Amino acid sequence: MFSLYDLFMRPLEKRGIKQARKRLMAQASGSVLEIGSGTGANIKFYNFDLITDLTITDKKLSKRIKKLDQIPAKFIEADVSALPFSDDSFDTIIHTLVFCSVKDVSKGLLELERVLKPNGKIIFIEHILPEHGFLKRTFKFINPLWKRVSSGCNLTRSYVDSLEQEGFEIVESSKFMKTVFVSGIAIKK
Ligand SMILES: C[S@@+](CC[C@H](N)C(=O)[O-])C[C@H]1O[C@@H](n2cnc3c(N)ncnc32)[C@H](O)[C@@H]1O
Repeated sequence: MFSLYDLFMRPLEKRGIKQARKRLMAQASGSVLEIGSGTGANIKFYNFDLITDLTITDKKLSKRIKKLDQIPAKFIEADVSALPFSDDSFDTIIHTLVFCSVKDVSKGLLELERVLKPNGKIIFIEHILPEHGFLKRTFKFINPLWKRVSSGCNLTRSYVDSLEQEGFEIVESSKFMKTVFVSGIAIKK
């Protein structure tokens, strides 16, 4: 059974997000933390042979994900800006379509850096301000209204720039679907 969110996302998943999830989630390894898990769209793409332990978090865990008790994971309600984990805890952190609605991106990224082990990786898929023309102007124009009706989802962020500003090294980054989305991997230096 699909949630409303999954139904809304279905066309976008088909146009590239699903492929990005499949390619990137297979690279999650060691001690893994997922932030903002939502309905759990990434879980089926994890390679559990590479994962020693999995912690799934969201600021509000969905009913749907709480039902996935057959998955070998801990489920913890936590905001990315105050994670209940020790420094240097994880080899891999995953977040997909989350940082558009995180109030203070810099604070969230500092938390990721804190709980990530040295040389640990962040695997991400985020939507960003498209690069060119009509889409860019439209995203900027509708953003104030969109933020109000979509629980603070921001259409005009440059997520990779934020990662670089916080000192992460971008080892892979590719934009897709007319540069509306970016996916990739960043390392804690
Ligand atoms: C658009 S959904 C994406 C869900 C899922 N990651 C996916 O790719 O389909 C955004 C999720 O991020 C969570 N989220 C938003 N802000 C957050 C924060 N500050 N800390 C933790 N989770 C957050 C929301 O509760 C929601 O479940």
